[in-house]
Amino acid sequence: MNALNIYNPVKIHFGCGLISESGKIAKKYSDSALIITGKSSMQKTGTLDRLTKNLKDAGVNPTIYDKITPNPTIDEIDEAAVIAKKKGVGLIIGLGGGSPLDSAKAVAVAAKGNIPVWNYLKTSAEEALPVITIVSTSGTGSEVNRYSVMSNPETGEKPGFGYVCMYPKEAVIDPEIMLSMPPYVTATTGFDVFVHVLEAFTGKAKNAFSSAYCMQTFYLLKDNLIKAYNEPDNIEARGNMALASALAGLAIDISGVGIIHAMEHPVSGNYPNVAHGVGLAALTIESMKYNIAACKRDFMLIAHHLGIKRAGKSDDEYAASLIEKIQEILEALNLNTGLKDLGVEKDKLAKIAGEAFTTMGFAVQNNPETIDEKEVLRLLEASY
Ligand code: NZQ
Ligand code: MN
Repeated sequence: MNALNIYNPVKIHFGCGLISESGKIAKKYSDSALIITGKSSMQKTGTLDRLTKNLKDAGVNPTIYDKITPNPTIDEIDEAAVIAKKKGVGLIIGLGGGSPLDSAKAVAVAAKGNIPVWNYLKTSAEEALPVITIVSTSGTGSEVNRYSVMSNPETGEKPGFGYVCMYPKEAVIDPEIMLSMPPYVTATTGFDVFVHVLEAFTGKAKNAFSSAYCMQTFYLLKDNLIKAYNEPDNIEARGNMALASALAGLAIDISGVGIIHAMEHPVSGNYPNVAHGVGLAALTIESMKYNIAACKRDFMLIAHHLGIKRAGKSDDEYAASLIEKIQEILEALNLNTGLKDLGVEKDKLAKIAGEAFTTMGFAVQNNPETIDEKEVLRLLEASY
């Protein structure tokens, strides 16, 4: 049996209305905080105002950096880190989807050092400012894991990194904040959750701990993914998707992702207008076909957890029925697109295939079926 080391120190607060606890939580760490958020959603919904008021009431002085774009760039992160240093803040608060949350962790590292954040891909970080995450999408799992994903706009590269010091201290998961997600964001982020558990459950680094998180997530997805999309005001479905996001975030913290993520990061790195979840959607079916032989039993188990009836199917047929089910889910979420529909140019596919290996090598290695660059290019072409 393989030895295992399981560690996740994030204190999780889950519940409706819990954003009102943020000030009290923040005060434990510092009297001054830098809020890292996006350009508009948290302002429009009044969530940013609620947070700043709550912080002030608790005696925490907030500074706001609200220029984070989806698929955040290293320039944004470095700029925010300079502000954190100049203000001498003792806490970073990420407010929003995966983009602001990932950025918050990267800022927390960069604010402690004297090098551009990109250099932390090669130089490990031992210390970071404390981070609190207040999540507004149910997708990436960034609220509870150590990962940060950042884009280099000059090269198109979009790697992830994650050191132990980057774990958020506390995560506030308040499903009410997610009610405002438009259908497209609900669909893309919700599908991201599915791919996290698909890849953590089938990858080479899978183990009993991550699989436990994955199995509960499959159950939650079965009843809530499409419901949250069709019934945006259904707080029960929103809450269950928020739980699914966090559980899947813990699963990938333990067991990582696979070839779908390895290919998607260079897609949205080179095409920042592509949302992470729709990039995954375009790549999932062909990747599942490639992997099915290597993880037939896992596919059968997932099919079972998603409630697919076995009814006389052979093992091969039952495993294959999972791919059909995912195709149906993609259609129900209006995410049934190819890379071409997303604006990806055909002559960029070779660059994307190369970057899957150079920037997401650990995910390529974790894929259940061994895969080389030629085969990745073939999958990209088939997903076009
Ligand atoms: O930018 P703002 O104005 O805030 O609007 C956002 C953005 O336009 C909007 N939005 C977010 N919450 C909302 C909302 N609109 C209305 N109501 C709300 N409650 O949605 C859009 C997308 O937001 P973004 O944060 O970019 O989405 P997501 O949560 O999918 O995060 C994607 C990023 O996370 C990375 C991705 O690569 C991508 O950069 N990932 C991070 C991971 C991790 N840390 O473990 C793992 C993932 O696999 C992923 O790679
Ligand atoms: Mn993802």
